[in-house]
Amino acid sequence: MNSSKYYINLEHEYGAHNYHPLPVVLSRGEGVFVWDVEGNKYYDFLSAYSAVNQGHSHPKIIQALKQQADILTLTSRAFHNDTLGEYEKYITEYFGYEKVLPMNTGVEGGETANKLARKWGYMKKGIPNNKARIIFAKGNFWGRTLAAISSSDDPLSYEGFGPYMPGYDLVPYDDLQALEKEFKDPNVAAFMVEPIQGEAGVVVPSEGYLSGVRKLCDKYNVLFIADEVQTGIARTGKLLATDYEDARPDILVLGKALSGGVFPVSAVLADNEIMMCIKPGEHGSTYGGNPLANKVAVAALEVIKNERLAENALILGNILRDELKKISSDMITTVRGKGLLNAIVIKPKNGNDAWDVCLRLRDNGLLAKPTHGDIIRFAPPLIISEKQLHECIFIIKKTILSF
Ligand SMILES: Cc1ncc(COP(=O)(O)O)c(C=O)c1O
Repeated sequence: MNSSKYYINLEHEYGAHNYHPLPVVLSRGEGVFVWDVEGNKYYDFLSAYSAVNQGHSHPKIIQALKQQADILTLTSRAFHNDTLGEYEKYITEYFGYEKVLPMNTGVEGGETANKLARKWGYMKKGIPNNKARIIFAKGNFWGRTLAAISSSDDPLSYEGFGPYMPGYDLVPYDDLQALEKEFKDPNVAAFMVEPIQGEAGVVVPSEGYLSGVRKLCDKYNVLFIADEVQTGIARTGKLLATDYEDARPDILVLGKALSGGVFPVSAVLADNEIMMCIKPGEHGSTYGGNPLANKVAVAALEVIKNERLAENALILGNILRDELKKISSDMITTVRGKGLLNAIVIKPKNGNDAWDVCLRLRDNGLLAKPTHGDIIRFAPPLIISEKQLHECIFIIKKTILSF
């Protein structure tokens, strides 16, 4: 059997250096646990950036995958298939929208929402051709395509990749006044926002922000696009993070946990008034709506409901934050989050920063990853039990206090 070092060297030698992973090489996952090639077992406290909400290799999702894999995997949308319509009916009823547009990755979902909003802007709002604007919040992250980085204010994302997509503008997050100022321009088609900013470091807006966005969008006839790729599907303690307030988005973008981490499945949901602005030939994807994805997504959504994962995330999230706040160390300056999407902010101590904390967490049997240098996200699979959570809290406490 090859060692971790062997695999890390292979990646280093033959793969692009576009990531900086924690040095651990995983070869197996089950539920809340992953194992490395040396056989060490870890709690997964990242859940592949909230894709593995249902836990690693959930048997019901894997069964759906295997069953469909033997029958039919891909037709493209050149032909109908006997899984797509049923999936579309299921997911639209599940989230309460009239239509869905299936894609693969989260960023494709965001692109789709942007295209849809521009089309709607021209066809329904009467914005002059090529003048549509979409507003984003500072600190947003929705992927790595040229459109996504064009709306980013993180130089690491955008620098060296210009020229950028026109028609994109930024306002501060959690600032309704700044938003209203932009909305006064009749050429604004949409505001796209994460209900909690995940990659920015689990930034939770003030109560009333999302319902305030909804009200402003109604007042100025602007579409509210909620990017729930990371917050959605039970992660924050409700099915959607926008469910916490009176804030139903006009366009809802989902990804990640829509397949429970099995493979890329994303979806854009909207009502007919918006979705029917796109006509045959105007948008699509070879793999979007493929039979494997359709079956996997239905299974993944069933698991969320049947296992009451939103409720579990809500209850255990409260315990996690309460216990993290009790750790008496000046290394933890902030504990924040909702449900099981959480983060702590680390103040370096004796030259040890968040990266060193994550290395020591790994050595103690828990995997987490720093973001922006000083923030560590804690987002375990939502199937975690209370007993397991307490074990994890013990590991985190022991680790922090060891510095
Ligand atoms: C809020 C949000 N939107 C979109 C994306 C992009 O998803 P993907 O990496 O599947 O393209 C991410 C990924 O982290 C995300 O957190």
